[in-house]
Amino acid sequence: MLEALLLAAGRGTRMVSKLPKAIHPMLGKPMIEYLLRALPTEVEKIWVVTGYKGDEVEGAITYPSISFVRQREQRGTGDAVMAALPYLSAEQILVVSGDMPLVRKSSLEAAARLHLSQSFPLTLLTAELFPPEGYGRVLRKGDEVISIVEEEELSSEEMEIREVNTGIYLFSRGFLEQALPHLLPHPPKGEYYLTDVVRWATSRGYRVGSWKLPDTTEAIGVNTRADLAKATEIVRERKAQELLNSGVTLIDPTSLYVEVDVSVGPDATIYPWVFLQGSTEVGEGCVIYPQVRIVDSLLGSRVKVLDNSLIEEAVLEDEVIVGPLAHLRPGTHLKKGVKIGNFVEVKQSVIGGGSKVNHLTYIGDATIGTGVNVGAGTITCNYDGVRKHPTFIGDGAFIGSDCQLVAPVRIGNYALVGAGSTIVEDVPDNALALSRSPQSIVEGKGMIYFRKKRD
Ligand code: UD1
Ligand code: CA
Repeated sequence: MLEALLLAAGRGTRMVSKLPKAIHPMLGKPMIEYLLRALPTEVEKIWVVTGYKGDEVEGAITYPSISFVRQREQRGTGDAVMAALPYLSAEQILVVSGDMPLVRKSSLEAAARLHLSQSFPLTLLTAELFPPEGYGRVLRKGDEVISIVEEEELSSEEMEIREVNTGIYLFSRGFLEQALPHLLPHPPKGEYYLTDVVRWATSRGYRVGSWKLPDTTEAIGVNTRADLAKATEIVRERKAQELLNSGVTLIDPTSLYVEVDVSVGPDATIYPWVFLQGSTEVGEGCVIYPQVRIVDSLLGSRVKVLDNSLIEEAVLEDEVIVGPLAHLRPGTHLKKGVKIGNFVEVKQSVIGGGSKVNHLTYIGDATIGTGVNVGAGTITCNYDGVRKHPTFIGDGAFIGSDCQLVAPVRIGNYALVGAGSTIVEDVPDNALALSRSPQSIVEGKGMIYFRKKRD
């Protein structure tokens, strides 16, 4: 049986942040979530060691079925494992630093296979980095691992070593039980280094396994904001590559901001400077033009989102066209072929198939039928200062420009609302509603007016 132990009790001083390091967001997810997703499938139980702002860290992790252990004082990585060991029951333990978000599942699985097949007491994941600064170095004699030396304790010769400790290890439980009590605190901070168990093992004649990461980007640990930016860019790049491989055209793959859970169908085209966030799904053949941000939304097939639009928690069925400069807020559901144009805001509303809301309009808490035309500058007055009220517009209705529909109100099927009307009462099916003040004409008055102005 294999259990995983993630170390996330540290404060992350080098981040210069009130937020504990392990839960710093990376493409919209706490950093540690990437590691949780990368754990080998054979891991039967996951433990996370928390300490600094432990409640905050535990509360931020959404990954299911995690058990937490508290490290009371942050006295080093060795102390963190010691604090957790009494709770673990598996024979084999995968220990992972919580700040290594780039390591892949396939790598952890390969290392675990090596560790188990060779019955090593411990196996290290290492990587050849250039430059190797900031990491503990792996000292070898011939091919055999001898020890890990932390950066601040390296001799000038050892500084040249490029093989680094990634902070990921597999241990047999029996070995940890023997080795951990022998750790000694390191001055000046008095920390217990987990890495010291390597020297203890080799001095006792144990053979130490090692597995070198072929892709060195996986070995990047996040200690600073600069590391976080670098790691974020790598995750983003991997995701963009995945989209390209699955048949999506990215006009500029370097400028697409895309979070890991987003999916995009084949033959979609995404222009530069687009943001796709959260659980967004973009269907086949969609075109997303520049400067668009889509959050937690579902787009069917062949949807077009024109420049500078913001779409949040909305559903857009096939062949919808939105924008430019449109704002779809949570609860918007646009049925097939709906067209939403410039400067239109829609919130918590369903708009029926083929309906058009093309210019300068606010639709809130409304249910609109099929084939409706909403003229420019229409407003559903849904809020009376205390409560929100609904508006219903029937199939085939035509709302002229610059109308206010004061909710609650119902416009019947195929009803016609004249331009400039303020509608406060329901309009029956097929009826015409008009509420404009009568127009008056005074012959010649215009000329008199301008003559006076000029004098
Ligand atoms: C550690 C390794 C170093 C390795 C590097 C890889 C040690 C002594 N050094 O250094 O060899 O190259 O990782 O990234 O292990 N933590 C706790 N409790 C503590 C201290 C730390 O849970 O008391 C956790 C941190 O939250 C972090 C992880 O352990 O997730 C590693 O700690 P960090 O301080 O980042 O270690 P490094 O100095 O990077
Ligand atoms: Ca680290």
